[in-house]
Amino acid sequence: MHSVDGPFTTDAYPVMSTRDPARFSAGRRSFLRGAASGAASIPLIGGTAAALAQASRADLDREGTAAQQPAGARPRPDEPETVTLRINRQSHTLAIDPRTTLLDALRDQVGLTGTKKGCGHGQCGACTVHVDGQRILSCMTFAVMLDGREITTIEGLTGPGGQLHPMQQAFIDHDAFQCGYCTPGQIMSAIACVQEGHAGSAAEIREYMSGNLCRCAAYPNIVTAVQQAAGLMKGS
Ligand code: FES
Ligand code: FES
Repeated sequence: MHSVDGPFTTDAYPVMSTRDPARFSAGRRSFLRGAASGAASIPLIGGTAAALAQASRADLDREGTAAQQPAGARPRPDEPETVTLRINRQSHTLAIDPRTTLLDALRDQVGLTGTKKGCGHGQCGACTVHVDGQRILSCMTFAVMLDGREITTIEGLTGPGGQLHPMQQAFIDHDAFQCGYCTPGQIMSAIACVQEGHAGSAAEIREYMSGNLCRCAAYPNIVTAVQQAAGLMKGS
């Protein structure tokens, strides 16, 4: 069994709303303290741990109010919560269990199944999507945390006329997949890798793509594809 220090720890699991102070519990507070103090519990792939830590601190400021609520007055943690997600430039208003991950919301509620579930706990990168232009692991991110944020999935990469993103085309050109299961996550991560400025060499690409596993071991072709797309993306 993997030891996961993240939002699925049993201590934190029952209460997950970020917006309603009445829903906070001791478990929630413990989770937020962990998130505010250590990058290990943050599902971001890129370097924006500080942003989430800052948001978590704001939540912590409200915990005193929640602690004063009698236990019987708190809503049940599994009551649906309404959230509006901006996905691929369209708004989707959903009533979801606040414990629903972004990955499950995308696949099961919105019907966007291009984002894949591999491990389900932050180990493989198959679920990578972009939030406000940065890559994140959607299996480790609660959908209710992303109200109003701009989410991009593999389905949102094509242009208005259906033309492929240069990274998608490069994966095809270089045969950078076999079964294809990891490919949506690889492509989303590869685009971010280039945009972050981490595609300067094959070694750098390997390093910054190391969070995306490929059971078919298409790694050499993936690196070549990223190099091709990086050149084309510079001019776009
Ligand atoms: Fe999210 Fe594996 S499914 S990292
Ligand atoms: Fe099969 Fe990557 S192409 S897991």
